[in-house]
Amino acid sequence: MNLEQIRQKLSRYHQKHLLNYFEDLTEKEQFQLLQQIEETDFSVLTSIANAAEKEKRGIISPIEVMQISEIRKNQKTFTEAGTECIRAGKVGAVLLAGGMGTRLGSDAPKGMYDIGITKPVYIFQRIIENLFEVVDDTKAWIHLFIMTSEKNHDMTVSFFREKQYFGYSEAHVHFFKQDMAPAADYKGNIYLEEKGKLATSPNGNGGWYTSLANAGLTDFMKQEGIEWLNVFAVDNVLQKIADPCFIGATLAKNCEVSAKVVKKNHPDEKVGVICLEDGHPSIVEYYELTDMLRNTLTQNGEPAYNFGVILNYLFQVNALEKAVGQKLPLHVVEKKIPHLDENGNLCKPEEPNGYKFETLILDFIKLLSSCLPFEVEREKEFAPIKNKTGIDSVESARRLLEKNGIIL
Ligand code: UTP
Repeated sequence: MNLEQIRQKLSRYHQKHLLNYFEDLTEKEQFQLLQQIEETDFSVLTSIANAAEKEKRGIISPIEVMQISEIRKNQKTFTEAGTECIRAGKVGAVLLAGGMGTRLGSDAPKGMYDIGITKPVYIFQRIIENLFEVVDDTKAWIHLFIMTSEKNHDMTVSFFREKQYFGYSEAHVHFFKQDMAPAADYKGNIYLEEKGKLATSPNGNGGWYTSLANAGLTDFMKQEGIEWLNVFAVDNVLQKIADPCFIGATLAKNCEVSAKVVKKNHPDEKVGVICLEDGHPSIVEYYELTDMLRNTLTQNGEPAYNFGVILNYLFQVNALEKAVGQKLPLHVVEKKIPHLDENGNLCKPEEPNGYKFETLILDFIKLLSSCLPFEVEREKEFAPIKNKTGIDSVESARRLLEKNGIIL
């Protein structure tokens, strides 16, 4: 696009202010700004009008969960089947590490955070150590695909190199970047982060498969014969990755996806619960759980919506391929967005000052036809780090790691 076409695009979306400092920029900076404007999808801004509206939900009903007692009975068979699948090279792992980790408050990628006490123990290191448990047991390397974003890609890659992949096989680690979305004020004016740069943020973890494909890695996966992808969050430092028992159970139930879930701590715990929506697997967020749903009981007298997802899913690649063309809902999320103020100075707000636009992996589940919720013991597999202190924090994760005999 030339400058005139760019001006037309800006005018169509009421974003002419993005060229306010254009004359102050060097030729190279001008070129980069125009290119960024050309590549940015401004249509996301139209979602702001519906930001306050709640998404219309279908008919919610309980989903059958494979609980720990049933898993224990079949542990050996499941584990053998899962191990065979891994040894045949059919399982890959996808680490979602493109988030900004704003609640933790570190400028570096979340995975570089050191949670050690007597020695350095980085979050990425914990992930690799967890993966190594399966690699050691099965004697097979598992391809690890790591999603980063423009904001943290270089630091993440350099960190892994510097730490020599924490002993993992470099040939089995693949980085790919997710896309970015613009960030805007409450009226829908996109912020500038620098005089020649729009404020952007990673576009949520829902775009992971498209980004994997755009990076050419789905072709690579096919060549390698990978049929299953275990997708997980960066911040759960206790989770099992490519867990053979989980894989075996999914194969036994012949499901397109499976989700690790934990029993809720109490009815109001802030986790999304797994359910069926119009007959499809789905997740109801804690703030969407009505009193009626909260009080519904199963035939055994247990709460019917009692299992929360921990962002550890196993997807069948064939099913993903069919689902990926469908559109995911766009979530408009209030966030703190660093930006240039009216005097052109960088301002880092203390309070939310606008919107970011994200698609979410949990919406992906709805696109598939069958899901196995697989219960895990939260004390053994769920130590998320979202905050520095308090709930789901460095402190709470450290306590759980120590309980599990991990020296920090
Ligand atoms: P969270 O929802 O906890 O977001 O991400 P976050 O960005 O890490 O943290 P806050 O909300 O800013 O404090 C859950 C998982 O999804 C990944 C994160 O890296 C984490 O593993 N994620 C999130 C992405 O990969 N990309 C995104 O755009 C957002």
